[in-house]
Amino acid sequence: MAGSEGAKLWGGRFEHSIDPVMEQFNASISFDKIMWKQDIQGSIAYTKALQKAELLTEEECTTIINGLEVIEGEWANQSFLIQPGDEDIHTANERRLKEIVGDVGGKVHTGRSRNDQVAVDKRLWLREHITLLVPHLTKLIKIFVERANEEKAILMPGYTHLQRAQPIRWSHWLLSHVWPLVMDLKRLHSVFSRVNICPLGSGALAGNPFNIDRESLAQELGFEGVTKNSLHAVGDRDFVVEYMFWASLVTSHLSRLAEDLILFSTSEFGFVKLSDAYATGSSLMPQKKNPDSLELIRGKTASVTGNMYGFLMVLKALPSTYNKDLQEDKVMFETASTLIGILQVAAGTVATLQVDGTACQKALSEEMLATDVAYYLVKKGMAFRNAHGKAGEVVKLSEELGCPFSELPLDQLANISPLFTEDVSSLWNFEHSVEQYTATGGTSLDSVNTQIATVEDFLSTFTLTPNKLHEVGTE
Ligand code: ARG
Repeated sequence: MAGSEGAKLWGGRFEHSIDPVMEQFNASISFDKIMWKQDIQGSIAYTKALQKAELLTEEECTTIINGLEVIEGEWANQSFLIQPGDEDIHTANERRLKEIVGDVGGKVHTGRSRNDQVAVDKRLWLREHITLLVPHLTKLIKIFVERANEEKAILMPGYTHLQRAQPIRWSHWLLSHVWPLVMDLKRLHSVFSRVNICPLGSGALAGNPFNIDRESLAQELGFEGVTKNSLHAVGDRDFVVEYMFWASLVTSHLSRLAEDLILFSTSEFGFVKLSDAYATGSSLMPQKKNPDSLELIRGKTASVTGNMYGFLMVLKALPSTYNKDLQEDKVMFETASTLIGILQVAAGTVATLQVDGTACQKALSEEMLATDVAYYLVKKGMAFRNAHGKAGEVVKLSEELGCPFSELPLDQLANISPLFTEDVSSLWNFEHSVEQYTATGGTSLDSVNTQIATVEDFLSTFTLTPNKLHEVGTE
């Protein structure tokens, strides 16, 4: 019967049944079953460690492993039947193991607790998830870089405070969204190194009394090392917070990208058009094409960040070692699936949007060359502070006369400063303007080409092996 404590793994000292509402409240199977594979993986490795420590005969070891593999098959072909009393993935698998192999199944938990079991399952799961994230991120970066490479000729206004500031290349803007993602990949490598440590063999809290070889157990599971303090190992979820912070940062990068593109796709800007595949219409206004893909990226970023904050609050006043509050760490599964969705939709949206080079060019106005006027005077020997003032007078004159810089009479410019001569006309050219910015990281063609080559080089050397991410490439 559901709720019969005798049948529960922890039911020995209980006389009465658990309240049915409490039973549901306590259960995590509905959301931790996602770790079925990792739970079996951890149990198989632990069974081998028990045999090595001579707590299981070879025959018992084989029987248990065969049983675990049957269960693995059931999960894989979706025939595993969750029973009403199955509290979580660990109890469900152990219950099923005993059904398949009999009493010997009860030996697999020797010296192990769900406390070190859940910790290892989560680390195994997250490790796999991180390895999946890398191709998603690199694909997104490649999409940006390819566009940047093909669309270098397009110029557009660059903005600060959302006010037209200086002309830039569209490619330079595209690449400005690549660099945060490159840093995210590097950060992910670092997070991975702290996820990839084995807590199994820590028991409930005090450690393992059965001579388990934790180092070879960790090696068997492909971990890079073992945790060094059992109390810490069962209560530590810093790796979960770190991952969720990492996800919050990546999604906030994509949310800023989304915000830029939402603006650029308005009729007022008209710089980009989203593909129909990543937009939706209005049920009332037939003319509407809404940037839902981008708005959802922006909106879901809030949930991803909220999950991170929420779980950090769970940790902040928690007593040492394991407390059931830690079950709330499963929120990271929601973060993970939202994140994958965001990465895919961002990639699709950026790959398929159309940029309108003419609209970008048309949005360039000559007052955006005011800085160039100041630089012109600087190149003729004037101190920048004075040149800034003189360029300001040019802006004022252009406003007073109601004519663009390029049409201002030379004698009037010469009244502002005698340094203005015929050659000032070379300034009234946006291409000339962007080409000044040749120092590393600027918007000139050379700098854009260097950025593309650097990112491509980084991607081609950033490799992933089954259990290890190698950080290579440029700093
Ligand atoms: N479902 C639990 C969790 O996710 C497993 C660990 C339970 N441990 C315990 N001592 N009750 O945290």
